[in-house]
Amino acid sequence: MGDEFEFAVLIIYHSQSGASAQLAASSWSGAIEHNPAVRIERAADVGVFDVIQSTGLLLVCAENSGRLSGGMKDFLDRVFYPLIDRRCSLPYTLLISAGNDGRGAVAEAQRILSGIPFTEALEPQIIRGDPDQRGLDSAQELGAGFATGLQMGIF
Ligand SMILES: Cc1cc2nc3c(=O)[nH]c(=O)nc-3n(C[C@H](O)[C@H](O)[C@H](O)COP(=O)(O)O)c2cc1C
Repeated sequence: MGDEFEFAVLIIYHSQSGASAQLAASSWSGAIEHNPAVRIERAADVGVFDVIQSTGLLLVCAENSGRLSGGMKDFLDRVFYPLIDRRCSLPYTLLISAGNDGRGAVAEAQRILSGIPFTEALEPQIIRGDPDQRGLDSAQELGAGFATGLQMGIF
C-alpha cells in the first residue's frame, strides 16, 4: 500500500438493532487478515475526508421500508457532491442486512454510488434474518475478498 493512504479499506456501517453492526464486525475480521490497513466506522462519524483517504469502501446497513437505512442514506447525501467535486472514484462493495428482501437497498445504493461514480468491485451480499454463523461467515468472506482485491490492486 502507498504511504499516502492512512488506511485502505474503510468499512462504514449503520445499525439500529445490532444486526448490521455484527455483519460489519465480521467483514472487518475477514478484511484485517488480508490487509492491515482497515478502518471501521459508524456512518454518522465519517465524512468526505475519511472517504478520500481510503482506497475502497465496504458499506454495511439494513434495508428499511424497501430503501437504504436512513443513517446510510444520510452519509451518502453528505458526501455525494463533495466527492464528485473532488473527482473521487473508488471501488466499493455492499453488505445488506434485511428481514426478507434487501434488493431495494442494493438498488438504491448502486444508483447513488454509480453517480459519483464509484465502481462495484464485488457482488453485493444480502444477509436475510438475524445473522447466524453462515451469515457472519459470508460477511467475513466478503471483507476478506474485498481487502485482498484492494491489496493486489485488482479493483
Ligand atoms: C423500520 C424497519 C423497516 C424495515 N424494512 C425492511 C424491508 O423493507 N425489507 C426487509 O427485508 N427488511 C426490512 N426490515 C428488517 C431489517 O432490514 C432487518 O431487521 C435488519 O437486520 C436490521 O438491521 P439493523 O437493525 O442492524 O439496522 C425493516 C426493519 C425496520 C426496523
